Amino acid sequence: MEFSVEVANESHQRYAVEICELIKESAKARGTGIAERKPEYIEEKMRSGKAVIALQGDTLAGFCYIETWSNAEYVANSGLIVAPQFRRFGLAKAIKKRSIELSRTKYPKAKLFGITTSLAVMKINSELGYEPVTFSELTQDDAFWNGCKSCPNYDILERNQRRMCLCTAMLAPSQEELEQMEYDLSNLILSVA
Ligand SMILES: CC(C)(COP(=O)(O)OP(=O)(O)OC[C@H]1O[C@@H](n2cnc3c(N)ncnc32)[C@H](O)[C@@H]1OP(=O)(O)O)[C@@H](O)C(=O)NCCC(=O)NCCS
Repeated sequence: MEFSVEVANESHQRYAVEICELIKESAKARGTGIAERKPEYIEEKMRSGKAVIALQGDTLAGFCYIETWSNAEYVANSGLIVAPQFRRFGLAKAIKKRSIELSRTKYPKAKLFGITTSLAVMKINSELGYEPVTFSELTQDDAFWNGCKSCPNYDILERNQRRMCLCTAMLAPSQEELEQMEYDLSNLILSVA
């Protein structure tokens, strides 16, 4: 299947209601209390170039947006969704890859992170350079954790003073950290040669 996967802009705002419906329906199907997104919020993400949209022709196929936390020390890719008829074609991975590139371009100093119970997302993240970490390595921004309040497992998070819950936390290096790693590696190769 052929899809276009691109950074969203104002011309895509007409898909915002459909995206919110998809997110809501899939949360219902999975039994998660994921925070509902309002179309206005999605539209703002599109206007500010902080979202990635996948289309097949004019048909919405998938979506994801980015959010920063702790004064842009961290960036998260949120609201990842693929329409049911387009699942299992590698589309979520393509959206996530584009979204990671966008995050690193816009916020080169920000570490990338996510929390998830989804096996598909864990696989995608691992293939794209994320590693599992404890919650201590993530943003401590209250605004981020307040997003968990609508989750049925919130009492577990609270009971553990945010140190652990049922989600797996995953972290990937910032653009600057990646460049430093590449620099260190090339120096190591030179010193061995
Ligand atoms: C999760 C979701 C985004 C995956 O989309 P997708 O386009 O089908 O995913 P991909 O085709 O890119 O698959 C990526 C990997 O996950 C695996 N995968 C996909 N769906 C899976 C599932 N339901 N269970 C287990 N593995 C799955 C694929 O086999 C693939 O693995 P591989 O790289 O080893 O082959 C999609 O199912 C969805 O929108 N679900 C509802 C919303 C959701 O759960 N969002 C994540 C919130 S954290």
